[in-house]
Amino acid sequence: MDTYHISGGNRLEGSCRVNGAKNAVLPILAASLMGKGGSRIKNCPGLSDVYAMISILESTGCAIDFKSGIIDISPKNIQNAEISEELMSSLRSSIFLMGPMLAVCGEFTAGYPGGCAIGSRPIDMHIYALRILGAEIEETDGKIRCRSGRLTGGEIKFPAVSVGATENAMMAAALAQGTTVIKNAAREPEIAELERFLNCMGASVKGAGTGTITIEGRKDLQGCEFSVMPDRIEAGTILAAVAATGGEVLLTEAPVREMKNITKVLRKSGCHVHGEGSFIYMKAPKRLRSAGYIETNPYPGFPTDMQSQIMTLMCVSEGSGVICENIFEQRFQTAPYLKKMGADIRIDGKYAFIKGKEKLFGARLRAEDLRGGAALVIAALCAQGESYIENVCLIDRGYDKLDMMLKNLGANIQRIKEE
Ligand code: UD1
Repeated sequence: MDTYHISGGNRLEGSCRVNGAKNAVLPILAASLMGKGGSRIKNCPGLSDVYAMISILESTGCAIDFKSGIIDISPKNIQNAEISEELMSSLRSSIFLMGPMLAVCGEFTAGYPGGCAIGSRPIDMHIYALRILGAEIEETDGKIRCRSGRLTGGEIKFPAVSVGATENAMMAAALAQGTTVIKNAAREPEIAELERFLNCMGASVKGAGTGTITIEGRKDLQGCEFSVMPDRIEAGTILAAVAATGGEVLLTEAPVREMKNITKVLRKSGCHVHGEGSFIYMKAPKRLRSAGYIETNPYPGFPTDMQSQIMTLMCVSEGSGVICENIFEQRFQTAPYLKKMGADIRIDGKYAFIKGKEKLFGARLRAEDLRGGAALVIAALCAQGESYIENVCLIDRGYDKLDMMLKNLGANIQRIKEE
């Protein structure tokens, strides 16, 4: 597995274009198999999760071509409604196939989805939603077996907020007979993006971005051409890396409005942040101050996907901070590595108590999950000395050549390929 070698201490400065959003493109790819014709999806990032999703779609019979950020997908020859365990476990978002495959083929058999080990990550709410729409679902021998005739609309009241279950329900309902109302829906910007994509295919979806989404099912959907929104977490990660090194950056093609919960925290940390149109300019002070208390919550709350990166910033800020992680129970896996670098962190259940230190020191580290890996890259960039971060493949799930983006801003980072 590849390793990043980072010599810390360089101040990051320059400009950087934000790539298409991982959490938008993955459900969009799954939804595209519901089109009668082919779709062209633009601004797609070259992430290992995107390649894994492409392999899964190809295994069902879709023809796919991915070049220069454009994915052409032709779902004409879908023949296989069974996804192998190996493919299913390659990413969490493989579960997005459940709704569309049921809607198109009336059946779906698969193992359980994989993804980063950041918590138990059950799929009970996905199953609950599809059962309401008429699917018969059995879970036996480590497999999920689903069957249905044409799905029928219904009222889905989620007991808790789930991004993925909301998206699965939206996709299945788009081809169901009648009206579906989803209550307690997730409000993430990527849900609104999926609504735009489905409507572009000819669906009738309203209300994404609020807690209630209404879908009038259609008999069929068409292929379409669509450009994916920029990635707010990639943009936030770059801002955090620049902030950690006391640098200055101009982000272009940034989702400014959707990042308010992130830029607010950076301002609290002492950074000057100005967002306008699709640009974000940020200048960090020489020494950050602690953002104080951060609590992760569903959108518009502070995103769990930025929690680890902000923890790194708190480790080198003036003053103390507290993080409360409300979404995933194993999202403090980076803390032991930060402590190895000299950070002062105490974990107590879903709370992390952090006392800022003047400096961190380079060390041998390992990415345990995607965002935690990015947080270690940030720590290594501002640390004194050399760091090695193993298991870069987890970082590749959600960042398209993170090393090159940081190098362009002046970082001293090398990817060491495994022999
Ligand atoms: C999505 C994002 C991920 C982000 C997460 C939370 C994608 C591809 N991934 O993941 O980057 O960190 O939202 O913002 O969009 N849960 C259940 N039962 C279910 C489903 C979820 O209990 O059936 C729980 C989860 O364990 C978690 C919480 O609900 O505690 C939220 O998870 P969810 O919003 O579903 O996350 P994902 O869709 O997997």
